[in-house]
Amino acid sequence: MYYETLQNITLPKIGFGTWRIGGEGSPDPNQEARSLAALRSALELGYTHFDTAEAYAAGHAEELLGQAIRSSGMLRSDLFITSKVSPEHLDYADVLRACRGSLRRLEMDYLDLYLIHWPGQDMRLADTFRALNQLVKEGRVRHLGVSNFNLKLLQDAVALSETLLLTNQVSYSLPDRTSVENGVLAYCQEHDILLTAYSPVKRRFISGNQPLQELASRRGVTSQQIALAWLVCQPRVIAIPMSFNPQHQAENLAAADLVLTEAELAPFLPI
Ligand SMILES: NC(=O)c1ccc[n+]([C@@H]2O[C@H](COP(=O)([O-])OP(=O)(O)OC[C@H]3O[C@@H](n4cnc5c(N)ncnc54)[C@H](OP(=O)(O)O)[C@@H]3O)[C@@H](O)[C@H]2O)c1
Repeated sequence: MYYETLQNITLPKIGFGTWRIGGEGSPDPNQEARSLAALRSALELGYTHFDTAEAYAAGHAEELLGQAIRSSGMLRSDLFITSKVSPEHLDYADVLRACRGSLRRLEMDYLDLYLIHWPGQDMRLADTFRALNQLVKEGRVRHLGVSNFNLKLLQDAVALSETLLLTNQVSYSLPDRTSVENGVLAYCQEHDILLTAYSPVKRRFISGNQPLQELASRRGVTSQQIALAWLVCQPRVIAIPMSFNPQHQAENLAAADLVLTEAELAPFLPI
């Protein structure tokens, strides 16, 4: 497994997403057993970075993640837990309240990483960061980051964060290269900020792309694994695929060990 090391932390190139764990916009009892099974198998397979949010299943994803971690017997210190504050909670007092809620649902006393999930419409970023910086000082949050921030907003966030901003989490995949086009990836790489790629294998493009399928069968892997390897071979890029299927979970984790040659990467350039 390959890692990214920065700001005295070492993070695996592949983490585990939790959107749809426990439901979508609200808790779904029909998803309970399947979700816990998915989290348990991810922990057993060796995932250590979990990405969640107060918005996922209206907080229930955080509850199930906490429950699965406690029953796994894993040490909290061996895990890296990311959660996110929703755009409607970006006022100073709301951020503090939202973070307390996430910690309560996870039954944890700190988050490794706390992100602004999406920029809010009337967001006052300085006010939001005043609360985020306070959470770091209080030890409730170890690192700060943002998500879905364009280059201008990312630069504003870097200026307002009293600790080095750890990540911008954005949609990034072979079929979605917005962050290459808008300069976000280059800025992250120049400033030692992680770009956390969400929805890295989601698109139909990945299963229906012929050059990708040919390369995958030559290497004896799947198209999704090539798509993940393409992402994580890039400096400062990590990915957080989500799967309910233990075989897919294992394949996604193994993709971090897949080294593609320059010739193999050529049809998919420019990065
Ligand atoms: N910050 C944000 O605004 C934001 C937005 C979206 C997502 N996220 C985060 O990013 C995580 C991942 O994004 P995502 O869930 O949208 O997309 P994704 O992980 O790219 O794709 C998930 C879909 O791909 C399938 N899949 C996963 N691995 C596979 C494999 N190896 N082979 C075949 N199919 C595979 C899954 O089905 P199976 O279950 O059948 O494997 C599922 O249908 C989320 O869970 C969430 O934590 C963040």
